[in-house]
Amino acid sequence: MSKVTVVGAGNVGATCANVLAHKDLVKEVVLLDIAGDMAKGKALDSWQQAPIDYYSTKLKGTDDYADTANSDIVVITAGVPRKPGMSRDDLIATNAKIVVSVTRSIMNHSPNPIIIVVSNPLDVMTYAAHKASGLGADRVFGMAGILDTARYRAFLAEALDVSPKDIQAMLLGGHGDTMVPLPRYTTVAGIPVTELISMDKLNAIIDRTKVGGGELVKLMGTSAWYAPGAAAAQMVESIVKDENRIFPCCACLNGEYGLKNIYVGVPVKLGSGGIQQLIELQLNAEEKALLNESAAHVREVMTAFEAMDLS
Ligand code: NAI
Ligand code: 2OP
Repeated sequence: MSKVTVVGAGNVGATCANVLAHKDLVKEVVLLDIAGDMAKGKALDSWQQAPIDYYSTKLKGTDDYADTANSDIVVITAGVPRKPGMSRDDLIATNAKIVVSVTRSIMNHSPNPIIIVVSNPLDVMTYAAHKASGLGADRVFGMAGILDTARYRAFLAEALDVSPKDIQAMLLGGHGDTMVPLPRYTTVAGIPVTELISMDKLNAIIDRTKVGGGELVKLMGTSAWYAPGAAAAQMVESIVKDENRIFPCCACLNGEYGLKNIYVGVPVKLGSGGIQQLIELQLNAEEKALLNESAAHVREVMTAFEAMDLS
């Protein structure tokens, strides 16, 4: 693979392109935005960082989809972020039109890309990109779970006074306040987390994780970008290097977990073909109920998207 395009050169998109360049995975990263020369400026700035940080990936900023031709992977971050008081779902009226038109423009120039969606409301925007692209569901998926588990792991690392490197965790469901962090699948250097922390403290961390995006919106007046940009870049890395890493990603379910025709977060294996395997965990009754509640919420937003009739 030699070319990755990032659409949207705002906070998340520019960060993702910059992290990708640092990873030196591909020959070229194209950064596209409709906002004047912003993408050109940020790409040039990132390219001028190459002699300092020693990478060879060339960055190109543009507002012309012709420059995205034959991209192997496309990361879609175009759209508006939320402001204090807004939920991710409030963004659908604006972002659905943007994500659908971006996807169509991408498909006009790249015959068979892998598309990673970041724009919110994430689960439904990923569904929208899947429909608009005509690509198989193994090639269209969304970034949320890596970010949400990263928040969970960072909070746990702080509470336990251990390195975040040693915390492994899994999380299911939609990218919203109904997301389902899974204590049963959380370990610290292989030790079940429940052996190291009280349930009260763990539940407080889970609650903070669920509203972790909102916590940052309150602090900054807009949503987060460092961890989101790095999370999307980590997905690209697993694909380009064909690493088959297992991450929680927003993927299309076709009967798994008892759910059909819906995009929500589940563990997947990411390699050169995109999603190589969707992993179905053996959930207990409580976990299943929480996942179903989260999926029901995603379905409500899907219904709002279908009613927009952007076909
Ligand atoms: P931002 O406002 O900094 O950047 C968005 C960029 O998209 C702007 O530069 C804008 O010009 C561009 N844009 C708008 N319409 C476009 C179009 N039709 N074609 C190309 N570019 C277009 O916003 P930020 O913070 O980068 O967030 C981007 C999106 O990502 C938001 O929807 C946000 O909610 C979402 N997000 C999702 C996360 C996740 O975990 N899935 C995490 C963080 C943000
Ligand atoms: C976040 O969780 C806004 O969805 C984004 O930070």
